[in-house]
Parts: sequence; structure tokens; C-alpha cells
Amino acid sequence: MKTCAKALLIVSVLFPVLPASADDAQDGNLRVSYSDAAHSSVLLEMNGKQYIVDVASHSVREAGAGPSAAESPAADLFRQNCAQCHGVDGRGGQGRGTPNFTSASMQASFSDSQISSVIRNGKGGMPAWSGKLSDSQIAALSSYVRSFANGHSTSGAAAQPVAKAGVYQAGDDVLMSLPTGRAVDEHGVYLNFTHRFAYDSATSGTARGQELFGLDNFALASFGLRYGVTDKLSVDVWRSPSFINRPIQLMVAYNLMDEHHEAPFNLAVRVSVEGQNNFRKNYTENIEGIFSRSITSRAQFYVVPTMSFNDRRLVQGSLQSDLIQDLPGINAFSTGFGLAVDIRPTVALVAEIIPTFVNGTELGIHRPAFSFGIQKKILRHAFTLGFTNSPGTSVSQRAGTEATFLGKPGADTPSSLILGFDITRQIH
Ligand code: HEC
Repeated sequence: MKTCAKALLIVSVLFPVLPASADDAQDGNLRVSYSDAAHSSVLLEMNGKQYIVDVASHSVREAGAGPSAAESPAADLFRQNCAQCHGVDGRGGQGRGTPNFTSASMQASFSDSQISSVIRNGKGGMPAWSGKLSDSQIAALSSYVRSFANGHSTSGAAAQPVAKAGVYQAGDDVLMSLPTGRAVDEHGVYLNFTHRFAYDSATSGTARGQELFGLDNFALASFGLRYGVTDKLSVDVWRSPSFINRPIQLMVAYNLMDEHHEAPFNLAVRVSVEGQNNFRKNYTENIEGIFSRSITSRAQFYVVPTMSFNDRRLVQGSLQSDLIQDLPGINAFSTGFGLAVDIRPTVALVAEIIPTFVNGTELGIHRPAFSFGIQKKILRHAFTLGFTNSPGTSVSQRAGTEATFLGKPGADTPSSLILGFDITRQIH
């Protein structure tokens, strides 16, 4: 509604003779209607002409004037009748239960005649249009629905996820190492990639100059794949390198509560098993609850209680399998706290701290692991660069710190922070 009020303000500035309220306005020859799932544009009809007022891009243009595909009659029909649920970009939204028309697998799942029959007769939450739209309009809309698959797009907004007012969109599955619990798309495939430059401090010693803030030295590079079985249930595999005993981590995650569905907070539960030396020894079992809550749509905070059974010290491993020690397991409990704040529409600042409350000392953890960084999120992709004192990125290893890893008690002080980066990409 806020945007709508803003739009009306713009409208009254543009057309000063207009009455102030939309209802009054409709008595004249002016009509104002919502046309955009992103709630950023309003369709204005006046004296038989249509104008699109886009509040986000601060633009006003005459509908039908542009050269783009969006301005065909089918596009106007879609915008007027369908976009409120399906989005002008056809991407639909979880909150509305509408499918993503730009997805190839979604397009393959229905035939042309099914599309026109759904438009005619309705389905689930979708109203029937027979009687309201003519056969030729329905035919035009069917092929318009098909055309979303060819990547036609109405504006830059098409690439952004459908946002719900007041709900934050996390850019990555993690802040730096702490999970955000973000939901996945059904059948979505996500690549995750992290680097931790654990061998030299970014801010003190030789690294600053000679080794370019530590970036010259070895990095611990971990790599993972996440797959959405449904939009709530996902599976994940994660592999970290030899210097931290090459664990492979297998995980199942379930999103129980979602602010997109009017829940007061988001809750995801993840269960995972890590096995070192490529899942052959030193198994650790983890269970995490990921609670998060949006503070408007620009920020979100996270609380992640984590139980790790048979946890092990974060030690420098060896490239040789038989030198990976058989370490005894210890049960540990940590809780991560995190915050993400968008400082621009596609740039976030992220911070996290992960104190271990039970058996931290036994694991060599004397100070909590902490990280902070800056994240750029674009087109189902995010890149995060930050400072941390934690070389590990698997569930149990993320709570361990440099001091344990390097066997240097002083390595956890702020002057010994290391650089790290994360990349995520939805590839399907
Ligand atoms: C009030 C919200 C709403 C409006 C308005 C609406 N739809 Fe839908 N539409 C839905 C929902 C919800 C679904 C998913 C239904 C389901 O799968 O049960 C859907 C599904 C569809 C599907 C996919 C059918 C399938 O087999 O899954 C097509 C195609 C479609 N809509 C086209 C349109 C067109 C074209 C318009 C405009 C004339 C339109 N819709 C207007 C809510 C809406």
C-alpha cells in the first residue's frame, strides 16, 4: 500500500487536476490499477490512453509505445488480468502458489491445450476466465504464457526473485559460514563454493604486502551442491579439502516455517553427517535449527542452535590418508548468531558469531568463531567477501578457529583475521 500511495502522489503531481483518491478518480475517465507483482508499477488509464508508472525506476511511459514484446496486446491482457498473481515477469511466487513460467521444466509439464483449458476453467486458486475473455484473447494469452520460456522479459525486474513485502531475501545459503536457512525452488540446483585463506593474516605480518592480504597463500576451498526435492525439502553434499581432513558432509534440510506464508519467523531444520577422509572415518553427526526473522525487507537476523555429536578438533590435516588422525569424538553445542542488512538493493553487509557453549575448550575453541563481510547478489548469484577467524565451513568445523587450526593461541585476535569468500549460483 505504501508504494500505491507513493504512486498516487506521483500521479497527482503529474496530473494536478486529479481528485486525490482513486475511487473518486474512477468516476472520471481515469482508472488506476495495479499491474506488477513486484508492486512497483501502476497502470493508469486516462482519456483512452494507458500509462505505466514505475515507482521503482521513477519512469512514466505510455503503454503500447515501447518497441518491446511487453507492449503487444497479449502483454497488456496479461498485465491487467494475470500479473497480480503470476507477476509481470511470469515468474510466479511461492507465496501465491503460482508456477514459474520462465522455467523450462515447468513449460514442459503442460501442453498448449492444457494452458488454454486452465485459463478457461481455472484451477486451484486460479479463477476461470471463460465468459470474461474472448476465445481469441485466451489463445493470445496461451501463446504469451509460452513465450516466457524464450526468455522474453518486460524489464530488469524479471531477473529478480518475487519479493514479498516485509520479507528479506537471503542472497546465499550462508552468511559467511552460518546458514541462512533460505528455501530452495522445487528442482532447483545450487552450487556453493568457499575459499578461506587460512595461512596468513589479512591485516598484519607479511601477508599484507608480500602475499596480498593472504590471497597468495594456500586457500581451503570447499565445494557443495544443493538440490530442492520440493520447495521445502532439500539435500546437500559438501566437501572440504585435505588440510582439514577432507570431510564429505551429507545433509537433509526441511523448511518448516516461512515468513512468506505469514509465519512470525522462518524455521529450517538440518540434519547432517560429516565423515573425514572422504567419508571413511571420524564421523560427526549434526542437527541444527535455523531461526530467522526479517526486520523489514532489508534485513534479517539469524539464530542457529547446533548440536554436533562426536565432534573433532579442527586440525591441519595431511595430504596423505594414513596421516589423518583417529581422533576421539566429543559432543559439542554451539549457537550461531547472524545478521544481514541490505545497504543497497543488491548489496548486503553480513556478520556472524558462533560461540561453542558445551565442550568448546576440549575442542580447542577458546574464542568464538566470527566473520563479517560484504555480499553482492545478482541474478540468482551471490558473491561474499569477508574477514573471519574460522577456516572451517562444514557444520561442525565452522565453530573451530584459527588458533586450533594453526596451533597458535594468538591467532584468534582481530589482528589475525583471514580473508575468505563465498560464491553461490543457482544453475537450474
Ligand atoms: C487470483 C490469482 C490468479 C490469477 C488472477 C490468474 N492466475 Fe493463473 N494460476 C493461479 C494459481 C494459484 C495457479 C496454480 C494452480 C494449481 O496448480 O493448482 C495458476 C496456474 C496457471 C497456469 C498453469 C496451469 C497448470 O497446469 O499448472 C497457467 C497457464 C495460468 N495460471 C495462466 C493464467 C493466465 C493467462 C491468467 C490471466 C488471464 C491467470 N493465470 C490469472 C492464480 C491466478
